[in-house]
Amino acid sequence: MTRKIIIDTDPGQDDAVAILLALASPELEVLGITAVAGNVPLPLTAKNARVVCELADRVDIPVFAGCDAPLTRPLVTAEHVHGKTGLDGIDLPDPKMPLQDAHAVDFIVDTLRQEPAGTVTLCPLGPLTNIATAFSRAPEIVGKVQDIVLMGGAYFQVGNITPAAEFNIYVDPEAAEIVFKSGVSLTVKPLDVTHKALTTRSRVEAFRALGTPVGHAVAAWTDFFERFDIAKYGSAGAPLHDPTVIAYLLKPELFSGRYINVEIETRSDLTRGMTVADWWGVTDRKPNALFIGDVDADGFYRLLTDRLARL
Ligand code: RIB
Ligand code: CA
Repeated sequence: MTRKIIIDTDPGQDDAVAILLALASPELEVLGITAVAGNVPLPLTAKNARVVCELADRVDIPVFAGCDAPLTRPLVTAEHVHGKTGLDGIDLPDPKMPLQDAHAVDFIVDTLRQEPAGTVTLCPLGPLTNIATAFSRAPEIVGKVQDIVLMGGAYFQVGNITPAAEFNIYVDPEAAEIVFKSGVSLTVKPLDVTHKALTTRSRVEAFRALGTPVGHAVAAWTDFFERFDIAKYGSAGAPLHDPTVIAYLLKPELFSGRYINVEIETRSDLTRGMTVADWWGVTDRKPNALFIGDVDADGFYRLLTDRLARL
């Protein structure tokens, strides 16, 4: 039984690898890709999503442009990590496939209204602006979502864009609060788990050794993307954040976590966007998210490399 998914994304090299992993996996039916402003502005994330689909020879995938700014705050982008284009590391041709006319939020709302309840999984890989806007516009769709499996937040790893917050949540904390308080079935891939999935040299060379345009692109993106994190953390590679969302759908046994309460800081300037995760159960706040803390990193990269080889 294939799982129907919508990927909501701000490509971003790691988003691009996540999209490729999904397109290489027959267990998943990608109903559409919805772009959101995040790593780079919306025109670029909407373009980059199509660049990735064409690299995978999947121009059949409908790509939609969504929200170009957070619900209430000015957009914060991350060109310092992803480069000016958002996909720096390799020059790929401009996409020929068109953007869909519909707004991404309308696509999300219409799809959830039309598909049977509990049959569509949302995979947000960037700020949660599109998802929160859809939930606010059509509250009845929340109960129809099978799962939300998202990349965002942190507890033990605390923050990457500020000392307190992870980028996706930091950019639009109000959107994150809507999603985390919606009652939707929620699985969270925070920095706690992505920082255990580093792009070591041997793992990047395994991508390059595929000897395909996809393998070459993924290795080039990773070489570019990891320079920032290696300089910052002095680590043996960079966390390949977003593909952990798709890998979880394919092999959940690679991951482990706890079902806990997670709430979002939206008022403080100092800690805005912090995911306050009650990992130790010290409050009586109701659990609302499966918060993933660990991964079999070798198993994750084996899965990723094996699937990318199919493209
Ligand atoms: O903090 C990491 C997240 O922010 C990833 O999704 C990356 O693509 C950026 O969007
Ligand atoms: Ca992302």
